[in-house]
Amino acid sequence: MKYAITGSTGGFGSAAVDHLIGKGIDPSDITALARSAEKAAGLKTRGVDVRIADYGDRVSLLEALEGVDRVLLVSGSEVGKRFEQHSNVIEAAKSTGVKFLVYTSLTRADISENPLAPEHKQTEEALKESGINYAIVRNNWYLENYLADVQYAARTGVLATATADGRVASALRSEYAEAAVNVLTGEDHRGKTLELSGKPWTFNDLAASAASVYGNQINYTPVSGDERKAGLLDAGMDEGSAGFYTLLDESIARGSLDIESTDLKELLGREPAELTEALKALK
Ligand SMILES: NC(=O)c1ccc[n+]([C@@H]2O[C@H](COP(=O)([O-])OP(=O)(O)OC[C@H]3O[C@@H](n4cnc5c(N)ncnc54)[C@H](OP(=O)(O)O)[C@@H]3O)[C@@H](O)[C@H]2O)c1
Repeated sequence: MKYAITGSTGGFGSAAVDHLIGKGIDPSDITALARSAEKAAGLKTRGVDVRIADYGDRVSLLEALEGVDRVLLVSGSEVGKRFEQHSNVIEAAKSTGVKFLVYTSLTRADISENPLAPEHKQTEEALKESGINYAIVRNNWYLENYLADVQYAARTGVLATATADGRVASALRSEYAEAAVNVLTGEDHRGKTLELSGKPWTFNDLAASAASVYGNQINYTPVSGDERKAGLLDAGMDEGSAGFYTLLDESIARGSLDIESTDLKELLGREPAELTEALKALK
């Protein structure tokens, strides 16, 4: 069985390769798609079959997926271009006879008001229409997304977001990657859409857990969207990004990442790390 992982030089893709090897898959049966040979050099050294491909280059994708049975399509990082890029991978997978494709989507992508959801929704639809056997793993937020905020809060004592009392059912990126690999290598998830998430927490919970891990007093201060944006601009962020992160906060306030699901626990065969433990692991 030949497996391919896209985005193999990123945090998720490289963790997925690690988990495949950890499950006993021979590195030579793992094809790592990368757009930079330099970044993929470490994977090559480990015996992984590195193939250079860019999501925007259909010919490179066709060559990279030749002989591959199963693909983990890790969503791309170029927001706004991703639907076309993902479609290119799906079309190449169809042309080369891939038998199973797992796509990393986003929590409730079909109905979410999260500004990142539309490209995921479109990709899910394209995958379903492609006729390829598929599974969709909808990842909730990585806890890693909050590491910089938590470290800043540990220095200043203040965690200020426009998320109000919205909850986030995050987990660690490596946990999502492990779960995705279990779907990829298993036989039980064809045609399924799985909602991968940890236990939901509030930003008060995040402040309390961060305080216990970093040993400082930290208070959660809910701020308005305008205040959040001004804070991000003050911290040096550009206008577009500050507006975007504020929209994300506001969607969280309205519950876009608040979900209770046991899918991640079942795929891991254990509870995902609890918030304080997970923050300790990232420290
Ligand atoms: N749920 C969440 O909280 C959350 C958070 C962040 C991201 N995400 C999503 O999950 C994905 C994986 O996360 P991550 O942490 O692994 O992100 P990451 O570290 O930024 O990795 C993104 C990967 O995609 C590759 N890539 C980007 N554009 C490409 C292109 N045009 N052609 C080929 N490869 C391309 C990158 O290659 P290079 O190494 O060459 O740049 C890298 O390997 C992200 O791309 C994003 O869609 C989800």
